Amino acid sequence: MTATAETTTAGRRRATFHELEVAEVRRLTADAVEVTFAVPEDLAADYDYAPGQYVALRKDLPDAEGNLHEVRRSYSICAEPRPGEVKVAIKRDLGGVFSTWANENLQAGDRIEVMSPAGAFISKHRMTGMNDPESIDTDTEHTFVAVAAGSGITPVIAIARTVLAANENVRFDLVYSNKAAMDVMFLEELADLKDRYPSRFALHHVLTREQRISPLLSGRIDHEKLSTLLTTVIQPDTVDEWFLCGPFELVQMVRDELGSLGVDADKVRFELFTTGDPGKGRPEGNIGRPVVVDEKGENFDIAFTLDGLQNEVKSPKGQRETVLNAALRVRPDVPFACAGGVCGTCRAKVVEGSVEMDENYALEPDEIENGYVLTCQSHPTTDKLVVNFDA
Ligand SMILES: Cc1cc2nc3c(=O)[nH]c(=O)nc-3n(C[C@H](O)[C@H](O)[C@H](O)COP(=O)(O)OP(=O)(O)OC[C@H]3O[C@@H](n4cnc5c(N)ncnc54)[C@H](O)[C@@H]3O)c2cc1C
Ligand code: FES
Repeated sequence: MTATAETTTAGRRRATFHELEVAEVRRLTADAVEVTFAVPEDLAADYDYAPGQYVALRKDLPDAEGNLHEVRRSYSICAEPRPGEVKVAIKRDLGGVFSTWANENLQAGDRIEVMSPAGAFISKHRMTGMNDPESIDTDTEHTFVAVAAGSGITPVIAIARTVLAANENVRFDLVYSNKAAMDVMFLEELADLKDRYPSRFALHHVLTREQRISPLLSGRIDHEKLSTLLTTVIQPDTVDEWFLCGPFELVQMVRDELGSLGVDADKVRFELFTTGDPGKGRPEGNIGRPVVVDEKGENFDIAFTLDGLQNEVKSPKGQRETVLNAALRVRPDVPFACAGGVCGTCRAKVVEGSVEMDENYALEPDEIENGYVLTCQSHPTTDKLVVNFDA
């Protein structure tokens, strides 16, 4: 990663937003668009990224009453790193605020706030040297396998394109599930990859609502189908790294299956776009929830460090507010993106006190052990809590 002033002590880049111009909007399917943002030269280092990472987009959009509200959503970058641009692909989610707006209204020339890239859905095999070709391993033989569904293809296509181009000893198998052929995002680009790397890139389209010649590739991927796929089409013991991206249930099923086949969890990277729990409602969770603090009431005292500056905020004990919600009251620049426990942008280290975390789909076990928490999911359990966003 190119070092910038925004890089934290742990090597993570501080999530910052800049307004970028939309250079192109390209329709991929009836329900998905690819959006290219132009990155000016002076911001090149801020938008350097490793394939597999995402950006958050921020825009004020009108609600049903016509009142403007900030809407913030994450989108994986869908192309190999190229200077001067960042590309994402947005699939319309039925009834979804941002994806519907983007599919219907977004056009070249518009300006949107785009967060600097973040995320840990990246290869551990030095195949993705953050735009630094020097650090890419161009020799070692590697076999990578990805299982993606729907818009889950976006980070995967960026990874596949990069590693296949970087190293001619790489083999990449992609199992890609969609409802029907007309829903397949990047259909042509995937076919091009097959033409370019006929012996190194294998593409297995699974269509859940259309019949393909092979019954294995038709219908929903259930436990039985997955087990056959993973033992006939793919040989798990030859795979160096797995990339899973799609609905929660599919990702979970593949992880479980790989576990039962003896695949080391350390070889498996996964990215979730939602927690898949309809009971959780809107992804904002309770971010932006107005909480009135009675200074004389029963409050938690939360202190936090962000960009070297220290702030304090009180959170009423009866409100079960998240640390992030409280922190945003005094520092609107506290980093977050999904607010649903899946992206990891809101990560901070607990320095004093303790929290209870509702969900965690983003932090690795070693991060938890070292005291890191997702502040969008964390509620204080001690009267005083001190966290550090810079750690
Ligand atoms: C790391 C990451 C990467 C991602 N990458 C991509 C990507 O590359 N491409 C992509 O298309 N998406 C991606 N996503 C998903 C994306 O961020 C959005 O979640 C998605 O586009 C839906 O946003 P929306 O505003 O359209 O829908 P929302 O308005 O957030 O609604 C989401 C769903 O909830 C339902 N809903 C709305 N209101 C309510 C309510 N009050 N109660 C219950 N349910 C409700 C909607 O009908 C809809 O189905 C990614 C997410 C993450 C976390
Ligand atoms: S903001 Fe995404 S995990 Fe907290």
